[in-house]
Amino acid sequence: MIIRIYNVLLFSAAVYVKTGKPFANGRQHIVFKAHEYERNRKMSLPNQTGKHRLQADMLANRVKKRYQHFKKRYEKLHLDVFRLYDWDIPEIRAVVDWYGGHLVVGEYLRLQSTPEWLPLMGQAVAKALEVPLENLHLKIRKAGMQEGRRYERISHTNQKIAMAERDLQFYINLNDYVDTGLFSDHRDTRMRVREQAAGKRFLNLYCYTGSFTCYAAKGGASLTVSVDRSETAIQWTKDNLELNGLSAAEHILIQKDTLDFLAAPRPDCRDFDLAVVDPPSYSTTKTKDVHFDLATDHPKMLNRVFALMKKGGRVYFSTNHQNFELKSRDLAVTDIQDITDLTIPEDYRSKGKQIHQCWEITV
Ligand SMILES: C[S@@+](CC[C@H](N)C(=O)[O-])C[C@H]1O[C@@H](n2cnc3c(N)ncnc32)[C@H](O)[C@@H]1O
Repeated sequence: MIIRIYNVLLFSAAVYVKTGKPFANGRQHIVFKAHEYERNRKMSLPNQTGKHRLQADMLANRVKKRYQHFKKRYEKLHLDVFRLYDWDIPEIRAVVDWYGGHLVVGEYLRLQSTPEWLPLMGQAVAKALEVPLENLHLKIRKAGMQEGRRYERISHTNQKIAMAERDLQFYINLNDYVDTGLFSDHRDTRMRVREQAAGKRFLNLYCYTGSFTCYAAKGGASLTVSVDRSETAIQWTKDNLELNGLSAAEHILIQKDTLDFLAAPRPDCRDFDLAVVDPPSYSTTKTKDVHFDLATDHPKMLNRVFALMKKGGRVYFSTNHQNFELKSRDLAVTDIQDITDLTIPEDYRSKGKQIHQCWEITV
């Protein structure tokens, strides 16, 4: 989902949660029972407050059930991060994630949204799970904006906390960006990579915070090369490697545009056995007027990746671009398996939407 932060809304949301006071415009909360809600809906005066309170109750109930369903099992697996809700009820356009005692509650913004909606949902969910308000983090997400905006800073707390994913740890920043540093929907794909990594040369393009790199390194990769154009991402990857005791010289970090890296790869960055390519849907460069549009440009990019692989090497290609279609006929390979269903964990399975698509490609 292509998203954008609205700082002003986020600020007002944060103020509300911090103070816990009724809405800034002075309206009182009106709590409706279900039958009263129906009567209210038919009244000529629009009363969003009642409707929203009912939505907050519905969301809180749903999230509580899901939390109880996953909690013990995920605790045993040492999974601190998992999803509790993603727009499962059409009129409740929220996403709720659990981060080891913290809640991140997002709103998929639309024009009809009001600034009160998200704090109301967040507070209801926090209350249901007995999470203190200082551990509630609200984020506004907007469809239709450029992917690059998703990685822009929205705050400067610089607070990172380590969270467990199995026997690995990852630094999470719950406040400063829309995304927190860990895409938990790929935790099983990471495990797949780790199981195949022993003695292998591993390439991670668009590495972000290096979670795939840490898994490959933990699995015994003889070399890992992680590429991202963002300085923050490369530093974060370094920190995550160190956090897991994996900071040896065989883990190369390259801050570069992927297309530049592929156009002129370093001599020591070839002959890979294993690769992960998980690009954004759309990417621009600051220095050049070059745009990368995944929908049209992926064959050219992937064919360049294949040229860096050993014969028989394996590439995991993934995207969260909705409606993405792989142009398999334009790829210089024949063995392409769609492993999407095998890589989506239970907490991310939803009838309405696919969190990501993923292919295993043998070169
Ligand atoms: C979808 S995330 C990748 C997620 C990552 N694979 C993971 O599992 O955590 C996108 C990343 O691509 C990086 N990026 C965007 N455009 C890029 C480009 N042209 N070259 C290299 N990195 C880029 C961003 O900085 C961001 O870290």
